Amino acid sequence: MNTIPKKEYLTLAVHPWELKLRYLKGKNLMRVLNEAGIYFKYSCGGDGACGRCKIEVAEQDRENYQELLSCKISLIKNAKVKVPPQKVVVDF
Ligand code: FES
Repeated sequence: MNTIPKKEYLTLAVHPWELKLRYLKGKNLMRVLNEAGIYFKYSCGGDGACGRCKIEVAEQDRENYQELLSCKISLIKNAKVKVPPQKVVVDF
C-alpha cells in the first residue's frame, strides 16, 4: 500500500526584521526569504558563487550561529537567521 508522505511545516525567525515565517520542511532558505519579500543583492543567480547571500543561521533553540550561503541550505529544523538590512532589498 502506498502512502502519501505527510507535509511537515517548520518556522523561521528572521532578525532584525522580527518576522516568523512558516515553511515546508526541506525548502531552500533563500527561497523562503524571497517569498517573504527579502531579496539578496546577489550576482550568481543562487549558484553559490558570489557569497552575497551569506547570513548567520542557527537552530531555533541554539545560540551558536554559523555563517552559511542561504542559496545552498535546505531547512530541516526550526531555525533562526540574522539578515543584515544592508545585504538585502526588501519588498514587503
Ligand atoms: S546567491 Fe550567490 S552565493 Fe548565494
